[in-house]
Amino acid sequence: MQTLKLTIAEQCVDRLRTLNPDGAPTAAELAAMLEYPPDPKMGDLALPCFKLSKTMRRSPVQIAAAIAEGFACAGVARAEAVNGYFNLYLDAAWLGENVLTRILAEREKYGSSDIGAGKEVVLDYSSPNVAKPFHIGHLGTTVIGHSLKCLHEFAGYHCTGVNHLGDWGTQFGKMIVAYRKWGNREQIEQGGIDELVALYVKFHEEAEKDPALEDEARAAFTKLEQKDPENLSLWQWFLDISLKEYKITYGQLGIEFDSYMGESHYFDKAPAIAAELKEKGLLTIDDGASIVNLEEYNMPPCLILKRDGSTIYPVRDIAAAFYRKKTYDFEKCIYVTSAGQSLHFAQCFKVIELMGYDWANKLVHVPYGTVSVNGAKLATRTGNVVLLKDLFAMAIDKVRAIMDEKNPDLQGKDEVAEAVGVGAIVFNYLSNNRNRDINFILEDALSFEGNTGPYAQYTYARTCSILEKAGELSCDAYTITAPEEADLLKVLARFNERVMAALEEYEPSYIVRYILEVCAAFNRFYHNCPILTAEDAQIRATRVKLAEATGIVLGNAFGLVCMKKTEKI
Ligand code: ARG
Repeated sequence: MQTLKLTIAEQCVDRLRTLNPDGAPTAAELAAMLEYPPDPKMGDLALPCFKLSKTMRRSPVQIAAAIAEGFACAGVARAEAVNGYFNLYLDAAWLGENVLTRILAEREKYGSSDIGAGKEVVLDYSSPNVAKPFHIGHLGTTVIGHSLKCLHEFAGYHCTGVNHLGDWGTQFGKMIVAYRKWGNREQIEQGGIDELVALYVKFHEEAEKDPALEDEARAAFTKLEQKDPENLSLWQWFLDISLKEYKITYGQLGIEFDSYMGESHYFDKAPAIAAELKEKGLLTIDDGASIVNLEEYNMPPCLILKRDGSTIYPVRDIAAAFYRKKTYDFEKCIYVTSAGQSLHFAQCFKVIELMGYDWANKLVHVPYGTVSVNGAKLATRTGNVVLLKDLFAMAIDKVRAIMDEKNPDLQGKDEVAEAVGVGAIVFNYLSNNRNRDINFILEDALSFEGNTGPYAQYTYARTCSILEKAGELSCDAYTITAPEEADLLKVLARFNERVMAALEEYEPSYIVRYILEVCAAFNRFYHNCPILTAEDAQIRATRVKLAEATGIVLGNAFGLVCMKKTEKI
């Protein structure tokens, strides 16, 4: 569609130059002004001429009329000036020859681009805190992060996905003490993270009665930072147990990380950072702690080292940024976390900038809104926690029950149920703008009616079934006859634009909404136009190819939002 927009824009600019040589925008500027009118009666594309009025020194009505006069361009069936708008109607045959041909030729590449070729993007996402429950609050960072990775790859960037595990800090001192006092190896091997969480809770209960436990925990963590082999091996064990479970969830989502280098990799790099900060005159000692004062930038100080010299979250992030810059030489390093960490990242980025590194402007924090469940804030203490694995299990069970009833003989039921169930949750979550605070209502997320993930999966499966029934078929020219066909092609033609917008605004929800538009256009076509029963062979073949093209676009779009494709449901 961009190519067509540019061709149209070039023609418009030619006409504008005739009207006023000095006031015309460039073709690229004008192409960006072309809009999709909300009502198709006002054209498939429209140029509002109001903004041009000032530089052109003509009224919008005069401008629109001048452009429309004798306008002709391949791909445009009709164009007219209406009330200061220049409205264009696309040519159905052109859509068939161009859009359909292109989708079927480019296939899994359709919608992609190479604007990022040769550039590296590091994405830091998911990054749960080890030995803590992996709950619904982690869904955002995990699926938004992965979606952004896929979007960047689709635009030609080379991407590195980093899981910056929260695998360091005083809580591990507590875990070590708790395990030594009350832990049972076998029970933990079997119960996994749940058992580790139980130990952690027990530690806090006991520490209330006996505050000396806190000192013991601090001592255990200090020993860990000194690389005491026994504490280190317990810590490694907690890490392994946690990772084993995380990887099950990642597998369900089709996510793999390129690196699991978490906070533990950076604590011993903190002294060098502190030294550099000191040398550059940025470090202040405040009540024994080392800080960087950021008052001038309206931010509280960034804490570098605690009083006892132990490291803390921000300095480990600063160290990680240096490591990544050196290792990956990124064009951009993206951090996906809840908006609650916006200040933390602003502080870290500022410190790096103050240290004199201009690549600080390549560090991007992508925040997202908070998640509450059934109206209440997530809180481990009150028990308002929904574990992601439980949520996925509920969704999968529900899909299975429906399948057992509607399609009991389906092959590979488990896999399909997982793809559809997990997809339902992800789709529901990603349909919201990322900055919105979300109230997750379990019943809604598990409802498969209306504009949901299962509906999208079902539509995809429908395109597959048409292809299967049609068998091999050749088609050398397309005949577009029905308005539903042209409408579907117009939607399919916009895919790359949506990808670019989602990329620019770090907004996977654009892709989810686009998927729904494709499904709606396809289903209108499906219900109004006979496909396999169409009498004319060329019309039949064209319609089958339209279904095929829809499947390609849906499949590509699913891949951008952590949804697996299911050929049969
Ligand atoms: N572990 C942190 C948490 O659960 C998120 C880490 C995000 N990434 C980072 N580089 N700080 O809140």
